[in-house]
Amino acid sequence: MSIDQPLMNTYGRLPVAFESGDGVWLYDTDGNKYFDTFCGIAVCGLGHSHPAITKALKDQAGRLVHCSNLYHTPLQSKLAQKLCSLSDMDNVFFSNSGAEANEAAIKIARKFGHDKGIQTPTIIVMEHSFHGRTMATLTATGNRKVHAGFEPLLNGFARAPFNDLDAIKRISESNPEIVAIMLEPIQGEGGLTIAEEHYLKSLREICDQHGWLLILDEVQTGNGRTGSYFAYQQLGIIPDVVTLAKGLGNGYPIGACLAKGVASNTLTPGSHGSTFGGNPLGCAAALATIEQIQSNNLCERASILGARIVSALKDELLSASYVYDIRGSGLMIGIELKEACTELVPLAKAKGLLLNVTSDNVIRLLPPLNMTDEECDFLIDAVTQIIRLYAADDRGKPRAE
Ligand SMILES: Cc1ncc(COP(=O)(O)O)c(C=O)c1O
Repeated sequence: MSIDQPLMNTYGRLPVAFESGDGVWLYDTDGNKYFDTFCGIAVCGLGHSHPAITKALKDQAGRLVHCSNLYHTPLQSKLAQKLCSLSDMDNVFFSNSGAEANEAAIKIARKFGHDKGIQTPTIIVMEHSFHGRTMATLTATGNRKVHAGFEPLLNGFARAPFNDLDAIKRISESNPEIVAIMLEPIQGEGGLTIAEEHYLKSLREICDQHGWLLILDEVQTGNGRTGSYFAYQQLGIIPDVVTLAKGLGNGYPIGACLAKGVASNTLTPGSHGSTFGGNPLGCAAALATIEQIQSNNLCERASILGARIVSALKDELLSASYVYDIRGSGLMIGIELKEACTELVPLAKAKGLLLNVTSDNVIRLLPPLNMTDEECDFLIDAVTQIIRLYAADDRGKPRAE
């Protein structure tokens, strides 16, 4: 594999090139196989190269790939109806990525504010959040590293610590131009921090009291990952706006911004758009993905597998001196170590395991929702062994547990 490629230097890539995949496995150009514990960062929820998605893409590619959003397509209407019935939302804007879905949500909130006569509509966003890399979504993101070098950031955002209701109350008292609260139900990039149930329910109430929109970024938590199609469905609340991407098309790029009530009537012709968003190929992939999730009860399967993994990892690792916490919801699981562990990634790769570390010290597992029991047990064993090996290597001697 040539490492002298004319690519912009935006990723710290590992020295490996993949050319095929099958379920939980990825195959490199030298024929080595690797178990992928985070399915392309929560994207291939049905595993790599799922035959039903491949077939849907092939069939659709032979019929119509693109015709622009100046016209209707039956597939886009069908997918919009499907997503609205799954979410209890009223309508959908289709994008190509999570950042673009969030851009649509931010524009809805700003337009909603302007429609009420608010000059500088301001959205409350969270510390340690991640919403994307466009200028609005990186401003919304609560991570200094994501901002650095791209100032000036946008106006119209106020930041609160996550899971802190008092902070929201303080901001509401000092800023009369708040129009929305935007957050992830689980902060995936921010270290797998789970929003408390009481917190999210209270945010819904606060938004109702003040006439603000509640925007949930379910780009990572959505598409069945946490054990329900949307994470908010486990809490008995409904947001005004919810965004999706990642697992929506099982690898084909498609995102969605869904809105309800007043938020669904905010954008008007000409106020927003996307050339590719919701094109027939993306819609075919998303419809086939949803069909697989529903017909195979994969939300329930994610819940069962997630509970099995968390319980086994707790048994194996929680008492180890270097482990701080193990937590998760469905198949979105974090193993928080007491110290930074990014060096675990190349070590695991050398052993045929693709691991992801977020926030420097949290190993994030996002495996496919349709793993077999055997694959699940393989993952538990492999992850346990590699963490033990790393902890021993890293400190020069095995740790007492
Ligand atoms: C919660 C969340 N929102 C938004 C994004 C951005 O999505 P994309 O990379 O598709 O623009 C991500 C990506 O990691 C994410 O995890």
